[in-house]
Amino acid sequence: MEINNKLLSIQDLSRYDIESLINSANNMRKKSDTKQALPPFILGLLFFQESTRTQIGFQSAAYKLGGQVFVVKETKSQNSMSKSESIEDTFRTTQAYADIICIRDIDDKIFSKTSELSTKPVINCGNGYDEHPTQTLIDLMAIKEFHGSIDNLSIAIVGDLAYMRVAHSLLLGLSKFNNIRISCISPKSLSMPKKYKLIYEKSKNKFLETDQLDLRNFDVVYMTGFAPRTPIKTFSKATRKKYQIDQKILSTLKKKAIILCPLPRIDEISNKIDKTKYAKYFEQSDLGVYMRMAIIKKLLSMR
Ligand code: CP
Repeated sequence: MEINNKLLSIQDLSRYDIESLINSANNMRKKSDTKQALPPFILGLLFFQESTRTQIGFQSAAYKLGGQVFVVKETKSQNSMSKSESIEDTFRTTQAYADIICIRDIDDKIFSKTSELSTKPVINCGNGYDEHPTQTLIDLMAIKEFHGSIDNLSIAIVGDLAYMRVAHSLLLGLSKFNNIRISCISPKSLSMPKKYKLIYEKSKNKFLETDQLDLRNFDVVYMTGFAPRTPIKTFSKATRKKYQIDQKILSTLKKKAIILCPLPRIDEISNKIDKTKYAKYFEQSDLGVYMRMAIIKKLLSMR
């Protein structure tokens, strides 16, 4: 974020930036009962794809910082009853009404269409099947919270690694830390795309791929889940079952292992394990508002 005031990829951040954001988020959290207002600002949420946590999380974060929020969910370009409008025009006009913009879109290329036009800080809240950097910042904050460090860990990333953008950003984010061992566990047809692996492989960290759900040796099990809609067919019940974390798998985990998940989950993690010591995904989600506050604060300070 030293380069510009946009957070479009986790690649925009150095390890130092990530650790500073985690520290800032933790400071917000510890002082959560005191007023943390910034000078007046308006956050514009352009969410052209559905969201629960990210949208509400950024809304809540902005309110906690004393800001105001507007949300655009449907553009004229998506509404067949209206005249068609390009995403470029929608972006150009709506950003003028905000001090900082969050965007989620189904299009991987949304930022190559809008970046040239942007005059305000922009946050990528999920671009198609590509990246979800703010979720990764929450994930890294959770890893630090529960293991005390992000270095020297063995991490399994499980699920649809081809189309789940959280998995791509997480792999890239972890490449900035030291002595990490990652195992990407997915059906062969849904393995981690080469373009993210090539970036990760530039780090000195270890990387393995397998289609077998063997979770015996990991400090962190990150269940990305399976995207509800992908360019390939939906998965059979047997595939979902093969990669489900259930009580049987749980009994094989290391004693200090944690299970994280960006949520939503359908059946990827059996709800029977929600109350076990391994299940940290709801606490991970709770951290999200503080990380989003830290991101807004950081980007607004760079205007
Ligand atoms: N984790 C996440 O991005 O959730 P939402 O799709 O609900 O925003």
